[in-house]
Amino acid sequence: MIAPALDSEFARDVWAGLGRDGQKTLPCRYLYDSVGSALFEAITNLPEYGLTRADARILHKHAGTLLDRLPGPLLVAELGSGTGAKTSAILQRLRLRQAVTYYPIDVSGAALASCAQCLGPLAEVVPVESSYLEGLRVVAARRAPGETLLVLFLGSTIGNFEPAAALDFLGSVRLCLMNGDAVLLGTDLVKPVEQLLAAYDDPAGVTAAFNLNLLGRVNRELGGDFNLRRFTHLARYRQHEQRIEMYLRSRVPQCVRIPAAGLTLGFAAGETIWTESSYKFRPDQISGKAAAAGFRLVDQWIDAEWPFAENLLVAI
Ligand code: AVI
Repeated sequence: MIAPALDSEFARDVWAGLGRDGQKTLPCRYLYDSVGSALFEAITNLPEYGLTRADARILHKHAGTLLDRLPGPLLVAELGSGTGAKTSAILQRLRLRQAVTYYPIDVSGAALASCAQCLGPLAEVVPVESSYLEGLRVVAARRAPGETLLVLFLGSTIGNFEPAAALDFLGSVRLCLMNGDAVLLGTDLVKPVEQLLAAYDDPAGVTAAFNLNLLGRVNRELGGDFNLRRFTHLARYRQHEQRIEMYLRSRVPQCVRIPAAGLTLGFAAGETIWTESSYKFRPDQISGKAAAAGFRLVDQWIDAEWPFAENLLVAI
């Protein structure tokens, strides 16, 4: 099929993902409009979703040791600022040793504003509104001689990349850095299937709403006529691939129009749209991936309650 001329990247991605033969897909980055981001924030508070609390616990417990590993003046950048709540443990500790400049990098101006408000008392916050790699290049160009850059990539966002793309991304991060710079990489670990399924299909339906909102976004931004009640949320775990997969499944045979993406689509009953993969890792898999991207794994901390690892990678 020849791609029509479409106005936005979102329209082009929707056309490419839903207009194809075979498994329909939508890229997971579109889950995060303002409604989706608020729903994700709610997910992080769910009892079944222990990932964010584990991430925060490790930072709280090990920030001192982590910073001892990186002596000398440090500059802190974060890929995807979130609310900044987790990062405060590191900044609080670092300011005992030096004045802190912190560069949150995010495409969302709203996320950057709330992060600046949360962390402003702890550091000079310099928000960088851009994609991760472009933002990192900006930050790297601003560093003073002798400063080491610590890049935070928390929350296991790396798990939402396909493995080849994750390596590629880490390699591109490495290219922005100098030897001795560091990345603190959060990775959610493999755990019992029931625990994972509860985390990605919670009984209160928050994750279902987060997933279904993607169709709401298509309606709002591209004039689609998805009836959200005719789709259900589905999460499954693929043991061999070590990943959770999220889908939206059509309850009935139906036809959907998305004018701004140039699409009229048929769905069979039970047909799915694949919306997200969330890879889980074994602790021993990290050092190989780090090495392939030009880093050495120098430390790894694992939470005792929820299998999650914080990995300190140093550029070599
Ligand atoms: C942002 N990311 C790490 C989350 C995850 O666990 O993969 C996104 C998410 N999807 C459903 N629940 C949370």
